[in-house]
Amino acid sequence: MSESVTITDNRTGETIEIPIENGGISAKAFSKHMPGLWFYDPGFTATASTSSAITYLDGGNGVLRYRGYPIEQLAEKSTFLEVCYLLINGELPSATEMETWRHDITHHTFIHENMRKRFTEGFHHDAHPMGMLTSAIAALSTFYPEAKDISDPENRKKQINRLISKVPTLAAMAYRASIGMPFVYPDNTLNYAENFLSMMWRVAEPVYEADPVLSKALDTLLILHADHEQNCSTTTMRVVGSSHSDPYVSAAAATSALYGPRHGGANEQVIHMLNEIGSYENIPAFIEKVKQGDVRLMGFGHRVYKAYDPRATIVKEQADKVFAVTGRSPLLDIALKLEEIALEDDYFKSRNLYPNVDFYTGLIYQSMGIPMDMFTVMFTIGRMPGWLSHWEELMVEEQRIARPRQLYTGPDERDYVDIASR
Ligand code: ACO
Repeated sequence: MSESVTITDNRTGETIEIPIENGGISAKAFSKHMPGLWFYDPGFTATASTSSAITYLDGGNGVLRYRGYPIEQLAEKSTFLEVCYLLINGELPSATEMETWRHDITHHTFIHENMRKRFTEGFHHDAHPMGMLTSAIAALSTFYPEAKDISDPENRKKQINRLISKVPTLAAMAYRASIGMPFVYPDNTLNYAENFLSMMWRVAEPVYEADPVLSKALDTLLILHADHEQNCSTTTMRVVGSSHSDPYVSAAAATSALYGPRHGGANEQVIHMLNEIGSYENIPAFIEKVKQGDVRLMGFGHRVYKAYDPRATIVKEQADKVFAVTGRSPLLDIALKLEEIALEDDYFKSRNLYPNVDFYTGLIYQSMGIPMDMFTVMFTIGRMPGWLSHWEELMVEEQRIARPRQLYTGPDERDYVDIASR
């Protein structure tokens, strides 16, 4: 059996054979022989836009691995900072490498005072933290103009470190500004998750001591969100990066893509949905509305997973641990019942709709005291190393600028008509 695909152009009878490599066929090999004939794939449902050695995802079997390591093992045994290193460098760090990495990240957590004062003060009092964070990430580009030299690997490394270190600071800054609380400076004696929680909640205490169960749960959620191959925001990072924009504005574009309710905004929508359902007896009527196509069951469904999202299983375990500390969320029962019904109902079964990572994360964040409009901000902190590892891969491989084609469906040529005659 030949590992290839044969395509015949029935207009001309021309036949071409294209080899199958890494599970795909080269569109370039096709277009060379049949110029002017494009693959039509809105939403990229059947297109591999790149090759990548970072994340393996088998949606049919619910498998997710970063650099070959199963997500279940990383969630249980690793830390978010170690996973960041793994994603970016391709290997787990040695003890010395880990120490250097921790030091490098810890020593880039502070932001320029102008950012904290003038920049933040410019926002309206009820500005959404995600809008503030997106702008703040883009604004970093103006503080580090040397980031534009994307051809120097050492320089790229420095910007990557800065982004991973500073994003929690910017995220907490956006939150504190949105509730009129003073900025809390990073505490570099704390670990990544503890430091973030300190910047969120510290008031007058000399050192903020986060509950270890909650900081561990946060760290695990960040691991689960760290990468997910060519999702909407990562593809955005690659598309913008391919024009050789600097990593800050590229990451700001990726953050914007994540903001949408179909992507990173879904966990916020889950809580809105659970609040709207309100109580147990309203569930059947809500499910009916979903099946009529009036609303979507938020936190369900995924473009790639056609089985249970492996991250959702881990999130559910974390939820139990967090609720043991914070008390059980009253919305949990509604969520569990929705899941139970959906897993048995033909509408959901026939469309392979299972809970995705966002179905339970909102409930965890909410019970930790993190407000709803910060949920996507939390996702941004987690996804940053994924975006950056894809950006670095893009830079090393020197891929061409992203520039797809279209199928034109507009009018044929026509003559301009003067406004008085229209
Ligand atoms: N609730 C009800 N029906 C759904 C849902 C849902 N959440 N998701 C998909 N469907 C149905 C669609 O109506 C469609 O039915 P049809 O064939 O009868 O028309 C079918 O399932 C296929 O749906 P598509 O929209 O074609 O699937 P697509 O791959 O384009 O969308 C998406 C994936 C955006 C995630 C979708 O499932 C959705 O909107 N889910 C809710 C939002 C959500 O949870 N997003 C988070 C995704 S994970 C992440 O970004 C971290």
